[in-house]
Amino acid sequence: MKTPPLLEVQNLHKSYNNVEVLGGVDFTVRRGQVKALLGPSGSGKSTILRMISLLEPADSGTILLDGEPIGVIGGRVDVRPAPERVLARQRTAIGMVFQKFNLFPHLDATRNVMSGLTTVLKVPKKEAREQALEMLDRVGLSARAHAYPAELSGGQQQRVAIARALVMKPKLMLFDEPTSALDPELVREVLDVMEKLASDGMTMVVVTHEMRFARSVASEVALFDSGQIVEQAPPDRFFDAPEHERTRRFLAHMH
Ligand SMILES: Nc1ncnc2c1ncn2[C@@H]1O[C@H](COP(=O)(O)OP(=O)(O)O)[C@@H](O)[C@H]1O
Ligand SMILES: [Mg+2]
Repeated sequence: MKTPPLLEVQNLHKSYNNVEVLGGVDFTVRRGQVKALLGPSGSGKSTILRMISLLEPADSGTILLDGEPIGVIGGRVDVRPAPERVLARQRTAIGMVFQKFNLFPHLDATRNVMSGLTTVLKVPKKEAREQALEMLDRVGLSARAHAYPAELSGGQQQRVAIARALVMKPKLMLFDEPTSALDPELVREVLDVMEKLASDGMTMVVVTHEMRFARSVASEVALFDSGQIVEQAPPDRFFDAPEHERTRRFLAHMH
């Protein structure tokens, strides 16, 4: 039997104040695949990640995780938005990393990483702490386990944010411009953690302007424009032989 893709987004639509932001987006991410999403500012990249991570409902369309619809309950005939309690549980399968880290300023790195375990998954504190320390080690921050966000560099804060997402053991990780708020010399340490994660087999969707990362780590690259996917292809074809004029213009602008 063929296993379904890990993530399948079908005909997703979203408007704000009657302005269409997503105009029927379809895409698929297979298990272990890294999908890079590129595109100009305002093209809907963050919006699609917010829909997939169930931070906000879509107007219409379907999101399947591991073959199961998420964000809704009921069957084909009585499908309706899932209540918050169900959303909270479904969200634990999807890790999200934001441009602005979003750490809790009053908690040290360990307690930031533990927070989802103890509050959402009700893991006992001692066990949560052990798992948090293990994750901080994985992102190279064992030595800063007790530092507060204000005592950490941007690159370190972003690695704590990645550890916080990973500790929930998500099936899928979403990254929304994870290095865009960082000083240039701190970008590499975050990309290195992401690259390692990808080579360990994590399924990832990464919105990024880091073209070299997209080329070397992504299994597939997609260009977003005006709420639609213009072109998607494996990196070699996407960067070296794009089919669409819009893609060529975007790439020319990025170089
Ligand atoms: N909550 C919102 N209310 C109104 N408009 C929004 C909201 N979120 C996003 N938008 C609009 O949707 C469009 C796409 O935004 P976004 O997904 O953030 O783009 P990107 O991440 O590609 O830069 C933009 O025009 C933005 O102004
Ligand atoms: Mg954005």
